[in-house]
Amino acid sequence: MSVVAEMPQNTTTPKLQQHDYPTLFEIGSKGLSAVSLSKSDVPAVDRKAAVPAELLADTTPALPEVGELDLVRHYKRLAHRCFSIDENFYPLGSCTMKYNPRINERAAAMGGFANAHPYQDDADAQGVLELLYRLRCDLAEIAGLPEVTLQPAAGAHGEMTGLMIINAYHRARGENRQTVLTPDSAHGTNPATCTVCGRASVSVKSLPNGRMDLDDLRAKTDNDTVALMITNPNTVGVFDETIADVAEILHAKGAQLYLDGANMNAILGITRPGDFGVDVMHYNTHKTFSTPHGCGGPGAGPVGVAEHLRPFLPVPQVVKKGDGTFAWCSDRPDTIGKVRSFMGQIGVLVRAYTYIRGLGSDGLRDVADKSVLAANYLAAKLKDRYPMPFPAPYAHEFITVPDFAGADEHDIAKRLIDHGIHPPTMSWPIHHCLMIEPTETESLRTLDRFVEVMLSIADEIESNPEVVRGAPHTTPVGRLDEVTASRKPNVRWRPE
Ligand SMILES: Cc1ncc(COP(=O)(O)O)c(C=O)c1O
Repeated sequence: MSVVAEMPQNTTTPKLQQHDYPTLFEIGSKGLSAVSLSKSDVPAVDRKAAVPAELLADTTPALPEVGELDLVRHYKRLAHRCFSIDENFYPLGSCTMKYNPRINERAAAMGGFANAHPYQDDADAQGVLELLYRLRCDLAEIAGLPEVTLQPAAGAHGEMTGLMIINAYHRARGENRQTVLTPDSAHGTNPATCTVCGRASVSVKSLPNGRMDLDDLRAKTDNDTVALMITNPNTVGVFDETIADVAEILHAKGAQLYLDGANMNAILGITRPGDFGVDVMHYNTHKTFSTPHGCGGPGAGPVGVAEHLRPFLPVPQVVKKGDGTFAWCSDRPDTIGKVRSFMGQIGVLVRAYTYIRGLGSDGLRDVADKSVLAANYLAAKLKDRYPMPFPAPYAHEFITVPDFAGADEHDIAKRLIDHGIHPPTMSWPIHHCLMIEPTETESLRTLDRFVEVMLSIADEIESNPEVVRGAPHTTPVGRLDEVTASRKPNVRWRPE
């Protein structure tokens, strides 16, 4: 491969503005290439004779032709435009954007894990199988539930798997229950899961303190109730201490308690869902146990179940045999079947295992303690300028509903970008809110800087609201019409 600059024959120097770099088409020039291959000694094939006519395009695609260095710079420049946890504080509530230890990446890239073939014989894949087996045992221990499947590929997929298991359980008892209860603060994936699984979701009210309204729960739980899907700590950032009562109300009617474990970060090593009455739960390993997961992936959503639901778990399950070796086992007659191709999201699972083992049980407890401490520290520092609708103490995140005359939550979120801080989650789970989750991995210095920036924005709204309303001012693209941008995204470059 040549690394010597090739001079374009007919390019005109594009005019650069600070953020306005040209596309590859614009910097390219006919005949340039980022690779120089040696001459082929394979005889040329007559394309037309070799490929059926209907599969042949009339013209070759108009791909940009560009030299190696320009290509590298182009992608490097694009990469610098990304907002990432490696570069910026990312207090995106509910998403647990924590630092991803590099050791996890190293483990996931090891040949035995990264190059394992899904059809490899068990005997040739003992390392991967042992890791998966150990991970499922660790997750079971952390949840206080006897068995875990690692198959689901994300939190929402875990929810679907969990609800399928619960449906199978009711069916096995000759029942055809149809209603799933979800709190009014539920994550959108919970009611969506109900629909995907052919069940109706019914909303249960929350109290002003963010806990579940037990009277409303009692009134809505009956012999048609499949389950309650609850997140705890919940999406308004509070741990509902009435959870054991919630479990009792459901169990008295034969219904199941499903825990959306996306917020497990706050309770690791402090309490275990199985101990407070949960029958099924999913983890978001890509939040609680790290994994770079911005922009929708990748993830893994293992599901843990109580003893009476074990027969319905997906197959195959990784098991340890009597001789100490590991294998895939499909011997589970009442299983709901397979919910994902091959063995699950191996790379994410290796990261989760590395994270869990790297920290150990004391370290996991420390994660929860520090994530809660960080959230409550920020809330205490901000509460005089940023009203909080739910009373402290909070779990690992908290909600503020800013109340300024000159700018709203949207403007504040955009102004944070100018300070190199990712916007918090906005307008969910309640209108006009910002949901802030610092995670345990941020230093006191970063937390203090965030407070300083938030307070400076509060001052700015009072003195110079136009600046806040016009933010961001430092990004390649300024304030967008977000409805148009998300409904009619224009992401394709076309020649003029
Ligand atoms: C509370 C809660 N439940 C479920 C999910 C869904 O998880 P996933 O995005 O992995 O499908 C999320 C994701 O943010 C969440 O915050």
